[in-house]
Amino acid sequence: MPAKVVVIGSLNMDLVTRASRLPRAGETLIGQTFSTVPGGKGANQAVASARLGADVAMIGCVGTDAYGTQLRDALLVEGVDCQAVSTVEGSSGVALIVVDDSSQNAIVIVAGSNGELTPASLQAADAVLQAADVIVCQLETPMGTVGHGLKRGRELGKTVILNPAPASGPLPAEWYASIDYLIPNESEATALSGVTVDSLDSAKVAATQLIKAGAGKVIITLGAQGALFADGQGFEHLVAPKVKAVDTTAAGDTFVGGFAAALANGKSEAEAIRFGQLAAALSVTRAGAQPSIPTLHDVQGFVPS
Ligand code: RIB
Repeated sequence: MPAKVVVIGSLNMDLVTRASRLPRAGETLIGQTFSTVPGGKGANQAVASARLGADVAMIGCVGTDAYGTQLRDALLVEGVDCQAVSTVEGSSGVALIVVDDSSQNAIVIVAGSNGELTPASLQAADAVLQAADVIVCQLETPMGTVGHGLKRGRELGKTVILNPAPASGPLPAEWYASIDYLIPNESEATALSGVTVDSLDSAKVAATQLIKAGAGKVIITLGAQGALFADGQGFEHLVAPKVKAVDTTAAGDTFVGGFAAALANGKSEAEAIRFGQLAAALSVTRAGAQPSIPTLHDVQGFVPS
């Protein structure tokens, strides 16, 4: 029986345009393609964990619009338990995404129903949290809800992962004691620590600060430069597999979901990080959020050059 990953987080419909480059302020560009793709950091991480070998339940909110049904169905088809995905009156979360020819993106999200996920929603889903081995949170739902989820995860003795994305400033100090694994990217690590993370050395300084703040272990993802793992005793730099990037949307989510699934299934931290990196590398070779996330079979067959 695969171990259980419970994701507390967002579901968004991604409205994706491809253009030769990202627009400048006040500029109108002619795009090449448009598509609607299921996304949202929480839902992407749930799909990643499910495709990569875990038994997964999602706690979140969708709206009463057509996107709400599509977002729930996208999880159900992956075998994600959606009993704790509630439907609230109004619009679902959306993300407006532009992807350019060099595979970079710019994203604006509108919370919609994700803003309706409250601490009371988590209390109503407490049985789901109790059944978890690993609990995963991000920051696309209200801060009070994330704080409740982290604290409850700690009280229940679960392994608690926070992917602080998107981050615009420091986290509430009292959160740190509940976090086993804090997984920011460079800009999020910068926002959390105040240290500009633009190199391996600066990542080490930021990670040290985040551990001092109380996080158990820190993994700073560094894009093509790999990831830095810090546990308060030392550091490990894990290089990223080399691939030709098409679209980096959801690469971080694939890493987090893959890491959580591997950890829940008993892999060591080093193995789980490597597994997450292989999965994330494969995801950037494909377009879109959830459609880009590989399966366990894909990752097992992937031999990086
Ligand atoms: O991390 C990628 C995700 O960020 C997208 O799917 C979009 O919905 C935004 O939440």
